[in-house]
Amino acid sequence: MHKKYIVFKISIIIFVSLFCLQLYAQTWDIPADKKAKNSYIPFTGVTAKEGEAIFTKNCMSCHGNPGKGNSLKTLKPVPPDLAGAITQQRTDGDLFYIVSTGRAIMPSFKNVFSDDDRWKVISYIRSFNKQYVQVLSKFDPRKSKLVKINVSFDSQTYLIRVVVKANEKTGTVSLKDDEVELFANRYFGRLQIDKSLHTNQDGVAFFQFPKDLPGDKAGIVGLTVKVSDDNYGEIEYQQKLNIGIPTDNPPLTQKRAIWNVVTKAPLWIILTYTSCVLFVGLFLLYILYSLWKLKKAGTT
Ligand code: HEC
Repeated sequence: MHKKYIVFKISIIIFVSLFCLQLYAQTWDIPADKKAKNSYIPFTGVTAKEGEAIFTKNCMSCHGNPGKGNSLKTLKPVPPDLAGAITQQRTDGDLFYIVSTGRAIMPSFKNVFSDDDRWKVISYIRSFNKQYVQVLSKFDPRKSKLVKINVSFDSQTYLIRVVVKANEKTGTVSLKDDEVELFANRYFGRLQIDKSLHTNQDGVAFFQFPKDLPGDKAGIVGLTVKVSDDNYGEIEYQQKLNIGIPTDNPPLTQKRAIWNVVTKAPLWIILTYTSCVLFVGLFLLYILYSLWKLKKAGTT
């Protein structure tokens, strides 16, 4: 009796948590300012077509064709059909946020596609909604040219100071509360330094730089700063600073490796290969020699 009661209690707990998980899976927690964001690109047949190309390559495997209900049903949660009512009732800002950040199985495309490309995919998704009327953003992406980014390093505190300003005709403005990300350029892609930060009142953000990051022979590290501003758009800035540990690593293509060219193959492969060839060659010579000996024995 007592045992049954416990089993009953546990089942209730499992049931309720599954129910909550399901609820969680249906709501996206989207900040108000992101929700209200609109595209600065007017959605046309052309942008929808460009968006379709991106969609086919990157989204269709999970979401299927919009309106066809053929998304990948084996995933949990099942990726929604993007022509469906739930998706189409969302704001453009919602969709932009979801495609940018992702969640669980739904990947983040923020560092995969430019803002322009993400809006084009949304243009494609909207092309399945006859009732949709676009609200255009007043933001002009050409304004990103006005943004000036300054990066400096303090060797005492190991802090990297990023200053974001815009040179308007009326004077210089500090861009506050902008999202800033800092990356160190590596062989394969980028390594994020610290976390995503926001600029303060003076347009400044401080990143904690690791003390043990390898640089090149001279200790130079290539840095990329990514700033995202609602009015000025997305700006990327690159700068080299002598702040890494000097490291003399030969480039990957100069090392002996299985994937490299013949002259750069690992020694053990060259040795094994050469001895196999030698062995077969010697064996052939031995056969020829035996044949010759046989022939000689026959004639005498
Ligand atoms: C690996 C599979 C996968 C890929 C690839 C993928 N998605 Fe998703 N997507 C999902 C899943 C799963 C969900 C549901 C996530 C949730 O609710 O937690 C989702 C949710 C969404 C939503 C929210 C739908 C709604 O209204 O609830 C949008 C919009 C979306 N994806 C767009 C895209 C776009 C655009 C691409 C391609 C650039 C893409 N997805 C690529 C799996 C994927």
